[in-house]
Amino acid sequence: MICLKVIGFVSSPRKDGNTSKLVKSALDGAKKAGAETKLFQLSEMDIGDCKACMFCKANDGCAQKDDFQEIYKEICDADGIVFGSPIYFFDINAKARLVEDRLFAFTNAEMKSKLPKGKKAILITSQTTPDKNAFMNNLKVHETSMNMLGIEPVGILTTFSEMKDDSPEIEEAKKLGEKIAE
Ligand SMILES: Cc1cc2nc3c(=O)[nH]c(=O)nc-3n(C[C@H](O)[C@H](O)[C@H](O)COP(=O)(O)O)c2cc1C
Repeated sequence: MICLKVIGFVSSPRKDGNTSKLVKSALDGAKKAGAETKLFQLSEMDIGDCKACMFCKANDGCAQKDDFQEIYKEICDADGIVFGSPIYFFDINAKARLVEDRLFAFTNAEMKSKLPKGKKAILITSQTTPDKNAFMNNLKVHETSMNMLGIEPVGILTTFSEMKDDSPEIEEAKKLGEKIAE
């Protein structure tokens, strides 16, 4: 029996927007590959910013008792993670960046990851600029963060148009979802 878990995060306030549709498609792909999936709409959650208190460097976990405690547990348990964000001012939006900062709790005092090895992740973004590579340099920085956390970045999928059921990116998202559930 294969017991795989793939979780997805949507940082857009538009719960049925492009990012959401693509993250859901990636989770559909992961489910098809046999994984259990779970979606988090971050706009519905109470997530504070990192307080830089360094509690996580001397202890296991984060001192801030907000909804991120559930996310820490889910990331620990997950084999695959789908990070979805709209592009706001040339990069992932503030909510997604907030999530990234809070993942600092998964590093020790030497900035080495405390997470178990073997996790994979994809990044899904939506923008209005037709050039899909326009913000790639900024997005690659977030792949560096994943690497630092010991999570293997498997791909970046970007779209610039309103998603329809037959948009090619829907299929691409499903394929990437399958890939992180392998
Ligand atoms: C505050 C804000 C800033 C934005 N900045 C950019 C930008 O720099 N480049 C771009 O191409 N689109 C930008 N957009 C457009 C969004 O990225 C685009 O509408 C995206 O598809 C929204 O994704 P969603 O449907 O998942 O919410 C911005 C939108 C907002 C609200």
